[in-house]
Amino acid sequence: MELQKVIDERRSIRKFTEQEVDISTIEEALKDGVKAPSAHNRQPWKFKIVTSEEKNRIADILYDKTKDIKGHTGPHTSGIIKNVPALIVIFIDNDISENRDMDIISIGACIENTILSLVDKGLGTIWIGNTNLISEEIKELFKLPYETVSCLGVGYQDQFPHSRPRKPFEDVML
Ligand SMILES: Cc1cc2nc3c(=O)[nH]c(=O)nc-3n(C[C@H](O)[C@H](O)[C@H](O)COP(=O)(O)O)c2cc1C
Repeated sequence: MELQKVIDERRSIRKFTEQEVDISTIEEALKDGVKAPSAHNRQPWKFKIVTSEEKNRIADILYDKTKDIKGHTGPHTSGIIKNVPALIVIFIDNDISENRDMDIISIGACIENTILSLVDKGLGTIWIGNTNLISEEIKELFKLPYETVSCLGVGYQDQFPHSRPRKPFEDVML
């Protein structure tokens, strides 16, 4: 797909069909993800692709952690994680991180590259930040030493939302 079309057509998708996603397709997109620039070329990211029970366990932990917090979007996000066929958990490797701000920005660039590659492959995505609240629990669940910085839900979209409004361009230009 033409890059401009991919950028224009990307949306946060919160409803997916039951069709499974090939893990190899997600891996191909992550290979595009890691082509992103990173501060001092540290490439401070790590990924784990989870499906079925492992994925649903994350959804349950998020639900339990946020269900009693009035107005919190965690329970809604938990439902999205249950519905999406695959979830990429994205971690920061704090052992090699020398400047947290720079490394988090770098991971953001990597995530956006991955998203655009997935959209180009006909997949829908949802960037999830709420899972940062359960970083410790995810560490424990997978016995991994890394901190969760985001998750990315991936699947075939079952909704085609309009573009969400953007601030007028003049308001963001100084
Ligand atoms: C860092 C980050 C964290 C986000 N976390 C969540 C989340 O936890 N749950 C959710 O439903 N959407 C989440 N989103 C999606 C945003 O709500 C969405 O990008 C925004 O409303 C604009 O809509 P669009 O992506 O369709 O253009 C997140 C997006 C970003 C960049």
